[in-house]
Amino acid sequence: MPVLDRVSDVQLERLVVDRIVPALLADGFCHVDGFLGASLGDAVLGQVKQMHRGGALQDGRLAGSAPGVHRRTIRGDKIAWVSGSERGCEAVNVLLHRLDKLVSACARRIGNKAIRERSKAMVACYPGNGAGYVKHVDNPNCDGRRITCIYYLNKDWDAKEHGGVLRIFPEGKPYVADIKPLFDRLLFFWSDRRNPHEVQPSYSTRYAITVWYFDSEERAEAKRRFKKLKVSNEQQSS
Ligand code: OGA
Ligand code: OGA
Ligand code: MN
Repeated sequence: MPVLDRVSDVQLERLVVDRIVPALLADGFCHVDGFLGASLGDAVLGQVKQMHRGGALQDGRLAGSAPGVHRRTIRGDKIAWVSGSERGCEAVNVLLHRLDKLVSACARRIGNKAIRERSKAMVACYPGNGAGYVKHVDNPNCDGRRITCIYYLNKDWDAKEHGGVLRIFPEGKPYVADIKPLFDRLLFFWSDRRNPHEVQPSYSTRYAITVWYFDSEERAEAKRRFKKLKVSNEQQSS
């Protein structure tokens, strides 16, 4: 059965103008509940559970950590990268299309013409063994990621019992923001040093889908840097 997106552009535009853009500009983060609605949200959850059951989720990797660091003490999630065009990812694809519309409307309203590409979607599961993700910044060194966008999938989540709260420590602010990973909740935040965050230990299976939107100029610059680095490493080792 085809999965259809019935939300109108007018509804998305309202959400962007009334809620998301003001919150991003004032606080640097924002969440929206009931983003897809129960039936589409259920379809996404079903697809993610199917990937998990089928063994598609693998240990998350660490970028540039010292050898010998025990990965699971830093991040204990299991992940897969999906484009949305895979078989069994039709509902995820609808989510991605809706996010793309929303973020391009945000970028227009903010006047940022450079936000026009994104990563694949990272489907993530914290298996509920007490693993989380220590405090970190997604993009501390200008790798191009500008907006982190996380869609949560967990029904009947009781944070007191199950943990798994995402805590944001907004730079320079005297407060933290605790976001529960609730079913059909969407979260946005600036990916850079403005938003250090952690996933607190999770004691029940915790599913989420994360997408990073790039600033194309920063991304292109990062790729140039990375190429140069690779060339110079190769020269040193030859
Ligand atoms: C950005 C951006 C606006 C702001 O980071 O791309 O548009 O208020 N920021 O931080
Ligand atoms: C990440 C991350 C937060 C969450 O994967 O970088 O911070 O709530 N995830 O799953
Ligand atoms: Mn993160």
